[in-house]
This record gives sequence, C-alpha cells and structure tokens, in this order.
Amino acid sequence: MLAIRFLRSVSPPLKCVRRSYKTNVSAQNTLEIRNNVYQTDEWTNITPKILSYIGLNKHLQKNHPLSIIRQRIVNYFYRSYTNSRGNPLFSVHDKICPVVTVQQNFDNLLVPADHPSRAKSDCYYINKHYLLRAHTTAHQIELIKSGLDNFLAVGDVYRRDEIDSTHYPVFHQLDAVRLISQDKLFGNNLDLHIFESSYKVNPSSFSPINSSSKCIDQSKQPCHTLEAVKLTEHELKTILLGLAKDLFGNNIEHRWIDTYFPFTQPSWELEIYYKGNWMEVLGCGIMRHEILESCGVTNSIGYAFGLGLERLAMVLFDIPDIRLFWSNDTGFLHQFNESNLYKLNKYKPVSVYPQCKNDLSFWLPENQDIDSFSANDFYDIVRNVGGDIVEQISLVDKFKHPKTGKSSLCFRIVYRHMERTLTQAEVNEIHSKIAQSCVEQLEVTIR
Ligand code: PHE
Repeated sequence: MLAIRFLRSVSPPLKCVRRSYKTNVSAQNTLEIRNNVYQTDEWTNITPKILSYIGLNKHLQKNHPLSIIRQRIVNYFYRSYTNSRGNPLFSVHDKICPVVTVQQNFDNLLVPADHPSRAKSDCYYINKHYLLRAHTTAHQIELIKSGLDNFLAVGDVYRRDEIDSTHYPVFHQLDAVRLISQDKLFGNNLDLHIFESSYKVNPSSFSPINSSSKCIDQSKQPCHTLEAVKLTEHELKTILLGLAKDLFGNNIEHRWIDTYFPFTQPSWELEIYYKGNWMEVLGCGIMRHEILESCGVTNSIGYAFGLGLERLAMVLFDIPDIRLFWSNDTGFLHQFNESNLYKLNKYKPVSVYPQCKNDLSFWLPENQDIDSFSANDFYDIVRNVGGDIVEQISLVDKFKHPKTGKSSLCFRIVYRHMERTLTQAEVNEIHSKIAQSCVEQLEVTIR
C-alpha cells in the first residue's frame, strides 16, 4: 500500500455535505459529486462504481474492523501526547471530503512533475485539476495552515491498482503531523538550534510548486542542524515503535528501513517481523521544510507518518481478503465489537465458497502492442461489470502473431462470492458482459 511513493495541491475546495452522496455521470460532460459539479475532460477516468464508495466511511462505521483499528491508533496518540492539564494534543480529522486538487495531492507535497504516482493509470481523476485523494497526506498543508501543530487525518483513499486479495481501489489511511518548536525541542538550552545559522527563510518557497523537489543529501535537509534532526528522529521512532507494540504486542522484532518520500527527508519505513514475514507497517520522516515554510511555519521542525488501515486490520484480525471490509453480511460484521478495543477477536470464516475461473483472450487493436496496453483500464472494466465477485485477475498468456504482427493477451478472472456459491451459468453471463465491454471500450477482438 505504501509502495507507491508519492504525492501535490491547493485550497480545500470542496464543500462536503454528508447528506448527499448523489453522483451523476451526465451526458453534458459534467460530473456531480456531493453537490459539486465538475467538468469532465480528457483526464477523467473515474467510474460510477468508484464514485459509489464516496461517503461510505467504513473507517467510522461502528464495530467495523477498520474503525476499531482507527480508534486504537487515535487512543494511543491521545494517551501519548497530553498538555499540562492532561488533555490530548492531537486533533483528529476523519470526515474530510476525498475530492482534492492535483496541487493538494502532489504539488504542495513537492512530488516531482514527472513522478509516476501522478499518472492517469494510477489515480482516479475527475478532471485535469481534481482527483480522488491517493493518500491522506494530501491534507497536510490545509491543516497546518489552519493553525494546527499536532493532528491525525484519517480517510478513504483511491488508487488504480492490480486486483488480488490484498489490493482494492479504495482503502483507508491514517496520516499524522507533529510540529516541534525550538523551546519544545531543546528546552532552556540556548546553545542548540533547529536551523543552521546559514539558513534564511526563502520567500519563493511560499509557492512550493516552484521549489526544488530534489533531495540531494538523504541524511538531513541543509536547513536543519544535525542535533535537531536526531532529536526529532528519536521522538518519531520512539512514538511509532510504541504504536507498533500497542497494536502487535511488546515482543515484536522490528527494523527501520531508509527510504524516499518527496515530502520527508530523511524518510523511513517501519517493518515488523510477524508470523514469519517482515511486514511494512508505515512510512514516515522529517517533514520537508519547504512545506512548512509554505504554510508560514518558520520556527519549527516537524515529523509526519502515514499508514494503511486495511493492512493492519487484515493481520490483526486474520482477515484473509480485502473485499471483506466492504461486506454488509452480518456473518462478517457481527464478529467485531468495539466495546473492548484491546481484545481483538480473530475472524472466523463463515464458510468458504468455491471459486469459478474463466479465461478471457483477445487481440489488441492493430496499432497497439502489449507494452502500451493499460492493464488498469482493463481492471476497471472488469470491476465495473463484475463488481465484488471478482476475486483476482492474472495475465496468463501474451502472444504476438509472427505473420500479422497482432498482439494477443489472455487474462484469467477468478470469481468468488463472499457470501454464497456462484453458479457457472451466472459467472458465464457476467464474463461475457465483461468481454462485450472490452470490445466496446478497448476496441479489442475476442478470440
Ligand atoms: N503518503 C505516504 C504513502 O501513501 C505515506 C507517508 C505519509 C510517508 C507521511 C511519509 C510521511 O505512501
């Protein structure tokens, strides 16, 4: 989930009226999402199916496993940071509309203009300027600008991706920011400073889009002193390891992996050894100072992290398939109870229904070769037509005809309903509708 290194943006544009989730893809080249109307253009790739997830807020649904994990993390932060009167320092923002600008999702966060995470094939664009957030980090700047020093942002995020038991185009993330000022970091020690004496506030960085997005020295940013970075790193790593222990138990083995995010430097991933595998839990780092400057914060150093809730919930509850988080089946939902957040029951499959596998082979249009074929376009068609009964899609064969030069692909689609046995006849009907949609939308020829 954290594999795509990210992130760009502007003023939070959008009114989010919770009452209305009406979504219309109309004939007039406009799209209505939660009472806002957007012009569609050549960037639009959002589908009605994807739009139908907006507002479902599984992370806030009572007794839902995602909500339970969210509450565990929020409580951990409430406990870990309090002011002198015992009140939590962190505020929680979990109802922000997932429609963001390209600037919010990428530019504001110094994501280079040519970064692959911006590609149309990876995100759900509403139009050239708006998309469904691909990470909750997209809200960093607006929250800091609103005056906050310590906050958590939680919500649904959207990414075009492969289809298997651990990937779903909609999932949930929790992001955090903590800003620490000179006196908080060094107390009364007047000899120590956050910033190198050579550092001057750079007025041009108030427009982050103009600032350099290249990190030359990964160990620290030039503006920071080593001691400020090391102290902040220590606080960040202590608090995040504490979080991992709160979730997975005190005895976990862990390791920090150096990594790169455009918006933090240095950056790390926390991995824990769980049931025989190293598992990535979160991504984090010292916030790029240009981002803070762009919010008018010139006297603090900050840390940030982000994590995916599904991944944690799948491990902690033994949930084998990411689609289950969307299930309204009482057999699933009744197994989770938030009355005791610290006693997580393992999920017991009600029963396992059989899979049906059908192959789909087609010739690409004459002028197209295998490399230029967008598998994510194909996956979206399969999802739109097949919905959640599609468990997995894999490419089983590719072939270029030596004489005609035409290319052919064969995908295996595995169908399985989470709550009942599917008949081969109903699968065949859906499978042929998928084939039909591929012919119409991708201009392929079924073999
Ligand atoms: N937004 C990153 C991701 O989705 C995670 C992250 C957040 C990393 C904040 C560092 C700081 O992969």
